[in-house]
Amino acid sequence: MTNSGTTGRMSHCADRYQLFNPRAYLQNNYTSPRANFDREDSVVPWKLRCFAASFSTGEIRGQTLLDIGSGPTLYQVISACDYFTTIIMSDYLEANRQELGKWLRAEPGAFDWSPFIKYVCSLEGKSDQWQAKEQRMRETIKDVCHCDIMKPDPVHPRVLELVDAISTTFCLESVCPDKQSLERALSNITSLLRPGGFLLMIGALGESYYLAGEVKLAVVPIDEDYVKEAVSKSGYRICVFKTYTMPPELKIGVDDVSGVFYLQAQKI
Ligand SMILES: C[S@@+](CC[C@H](N)C(=O)[O-])C[C@H]1O[C@@H](n2cnc3c(N)ncnc32)[C@H](O)[C@@H]1O
Repeated sequence: MTNSGTTGRMSHCADRYQLFNPRAYLQNNYTSPRANFDREDSVVPWKLRCFAASFSTGEIRGQTLLDIGSGPTLYQVISACDYFTTIIMSDYLEANRQELGKWLRAEPGAFDWSPFIKYVCSLEGKSDQWQAKEQRMRETIKDVCHCDIMKPDPVHPRVLELVDAISTTFCLESVCPDKQSLERALSNITSLLRPGGFLLMIGALGESYYLAGEVKLAVVPIDEDYVKEAVSKSGYRICVFKTYTMPPELKIGVDDVSGVFYLQAQKI
């Protein structure tokens, strides 16, 4: 009874995602005011500073980083491209994978990630080298594959050696219908990571929905304590945990998020 109920809700979620509009989602979350690089307190610069700080330690490096539920976005791997030989992006939706492909092939009409890359380079004190980093991103991202975090092997039929790091941003809580399935999804993605490897995760706090064009998508509202407990229970040691409170001027009617968390954890 419980199982069939959960399955019903899950397929409902999956159906809703077919209506996800990548360009509307990018417009809502990755243009000003949320991506305002003249304001330190804007949320996107905060996310980029979190990733940059983790990578600047030199501790997170290796052969392969897998980004789970990438959506149409690439900001989450800008810092990573200097520390991994291969980055694999992944998403459930063909429309999002195509959006990423457009940028990777530098096609006209692709979303412009250059302000994001320039900002990360400025954090590294290498503002004049942003084009080299852009080039490195295009070389390091070697694949954009299908993934389904609800499946025990989320990247099936792609066969991967255990990866050295996983990043995932705003995916688990916005895809899973409830906390139980979120924990199962976390365990599914953890099975792809080698012991000692790092999980870098960003997510929404206190959010119940977001808009991506015509569609309103349900989100499981979670808080900091829950995130820490779920991640620890999945077999990680949490190394870094940071939170950001969404300022009133960034509450722009595209979701009801109250804050954002960033965590870096190491698989035990
Ligand atoms: C809120 S978006 C996050 C996008 C991006 N990572 C970001 O930081 O903005 C959630 C993403 O999860 C993807 N998704 C939906 N169902 C999924 C599933 N079952 N497995 C993996 N990803 C899924 C969606 O296509 C969408 O790109």
